[in-house]
Amino acid sequence: MKIIGLKLTLPAVLAIAFASPASAAEHGAAPNKDFEAKVQYCKTCHGLSGQGFRGAYPMPRLAGQQPEYLENQLRAFIDRRRTNPVMFNVAHVLSPSMVTALAKYFKDLDPKPLDGAPTELAAMGKKIYQEGIASANVPACASCHGQDAKGQGEFPRLAGQLYDYVQKKLMNWDKERGQDRAKPDTSAIMEPIAHGLTQQQIAAVAAYVSNLE
Ligand code: HEC
Ligand code: HEC
Repeated sequence: MKIIGLKLTLPAVLAIAFASPASAAEHGAAPNKDFEAKVQYCKTCHGLSGQGFRGAYPMPRLAGQQPEYLENQLRAFIDRRRTNPVMFNVAHVLSPSMVTALAKYFKDLDPKPLDGAPTELAAMGKKIYQEGIASANVPACASCHGQDAKGQGEFPRLAGQLYDYVQKKLMNWDKERGQDRAKPDTSAIMEPIAHGLTQQQIAAVAAYVSNLE
């Protein structure tokens, strides 16, 4: 009995002795804990898988978002170039390395889109997304946001983004984005495009992208 006990105990002791200092050194215990806590905090609003959430107002999907775009937006909230009182409070306490770590983390999540968009509008939305509207000088959304709406670099992913969030952003573009006229940013690219769309066209294209995986 004693021999069996020893056999079982020794590897366990060795595993603890060797494994724990190594993993602590690898991840850096304290920053890791801060990061986990911060991610949990983001998820209280943005959904447990970063899929977005409908509360009193829509909380956008962050899952799969382009890291460069996500970092740009956090900085825009901090500088108040993009106005949102909630996200200013959230973002201005984040260190630059935390911003980068969060952007990297959300990029790798891949939940299904939240549903809720009227499907009867999606066909019209698809046409706008892929071809634009020549008569209104609106270029194809796909030319910047990608054929599959996954985005690239500073061009955001739109696939799976909440229907009501997309609508609100397009309708209020010049009231919320690029608010520091002395510091023009990437939001200026979208301003004429958002303006060129009617309310119905906005609803249609928002419905289309919101259902893409
Ligand atoms: C109290 C709720 C709340 C918390 C907590 C919160 N957010 Fe937000 N977030 C929002 C809302 C609301 C918006 C939409 C703002 C708007 O409509 O412009 C938003 C927008 C964003 C955007 C812009 C998304 C886009 O598609 O342009 C990013 C990026 C973001 N949040 C990241 C984060 C991160 C990272 C955390 C955690 C550190 C976090 N948020 C925590 C409520 C929250
Ligand atoms: C010439 C390139 C270009 C084209 C074409 C374009 N976009 Fe954009 N779009 C951008 C850029 C750049 C941003 C990020 C702006 C920023 O950094 O604030 C953006 C942001 C957006 C956002 C905000 C996303 C978010 O999470 O808040 C929406 C919604 C959007 N575009 C929808 C559209 C739609 C719909 C079309 C087609 C009708 C379109 N875009 C065509 C470049 C483009």
